[in-house]
Amino acid sequence: MIHLPSLEALSDAPLARKPGDTQFSTLEVDASWALDMSAKDTIKFDPSVVGNLDDDADVAGSTTSSLRESTASITSSIYEYRTLHGRSYQASNTTEYWFPTDDRHVSGNDVAHAYLTMLMKNKLHLAPVENPKKILDVGTGSGIWAIDIADQYPDAEVIGTDISSVQPKWIPANCSFQIDDAQLDWTFRKDFDFIYIRNLIGGIGDWAKLYRQTFAHLKPGGWIESVEIDIETLSENPRVQNDQNHVFKRWCQLFWVAGDKAGRTFRIARDGTMQKLIEEAGFTDLHHLRWKVPIGGWAQDPLLKQVGLYNGLYIDQSLDGFALFPLAQILGWTFEEVETLVADMRKAIADPKSLPLFTWNVVYARKPE
Ligand SMILES: C[S@@+](CC[C@H](N)C(=O)[O-])C[C@H]1O[C@@H](n2cnc3c(N)ncnc32)[C@H](O)[C@@H]1O
Repeated sequence: MIHLPSLEALSDAPLARKPGDTQFSTLEVDASWALDMSAKDTIKFDPSVVGNLDDDADVAGSTTSSLRESTASITSSIYEYRTLHGRSYQASNTTEYWFPTDDRHVSGNDVAHAYLTMLMKNKLHLAPVENPKKILDVGTGSGIWAIDIADQYPDAEVIGTDISSVQPKWIPANCSFQIDDAQLDWTFRKDFDFIYIRNLIGGIGDWAKLYRQTFAHLKPGGWIESVEIDIETLSENPRVQNDQNHVFKRWCQLFWVAGDKAGRTFRIARDGTMQKLIEEAGFTDLHHLRWKVPIGGWAQDPLLKQVGLYNGLYIDQSLDGFALFPLAQILGWTFEEVETLVADMRKAIADPKSLPLFTWNVVYARKPE
């Protein structure tokens, strides 16, 4: 069972393959239920939330109605499920991970899981995996994907790994969690049918090695699926998008610099890097999808509005946690400086006229027979 609130806007439109760019094939979906997979089309905004884009005085929805009040209604249902499980915390000696592992941020990941699953039409993966017997979820976090996939494939053995023991104790019988740093040499048997890697941005120094180890530990014919966010906040409002001094631009540039300085890139989902490294690891049949995901409930499309509300909730509760380690620990900012930037970013994101979004990338590929 996938733990999602129902969403009437989801239709049963099938995934349809369309020609992609010259190097990689691209999947596209019927726009009636989801996003343009090529992420090139502008997302239409809802005037009842945004008002007149060109008129600063015309405020249809306040900043809070775009992000916070409107997310309050979905918050409790998610937390109800997740707070049934206890959580503990553990620091890793081998990877200094930038993202907090307290309850608030771990449950933020469950919110991200919820909206990503909505985008995928309640699917937990896009790779055409059939009757998998062994599945690995690398960097499982709260374990929500591993638990759901174990429910979906009761005959499969599912292992979730992480450097932190923040996973629940009440889990399906065919699911287990292990403390393991994905950056070290893997000691698993080389017999997985499917290896899933999601949202490890900032936690990996050598992505090429991660993908090579994934390749080595799959059976011939097995699949990898790697899902990563591009942290650049984009805007469908040209005034914001073209403003080179906007906090959206400053924010991601700081993260890129901090990631480069720490040797753990925040650019893995940019410039075709995931695709290139996965292909270089030896994988074939590579597919790349890129989704535009609104932040806040400003989109007109009902699915995007719902996804945007979830994403707004995720960002709203994660923003300061995102910033603290990269800016204070790596770049040496004071706490007050970090707070000021976070406040600017929060204000900009919460303004419905900012029409903010970022993109998620999914790459899946097969180990040759
Ligand atoms: C943002 S969370 C995503 C969790 C999960 N994959 C998801 O999408 O719901 C990232 C997780 O990766 C874990 N992580 C980061 N670096 C890691 C590493 N080198 N090896 C194993 N886990 C790692 C973190 O501890 C954290 O729980």
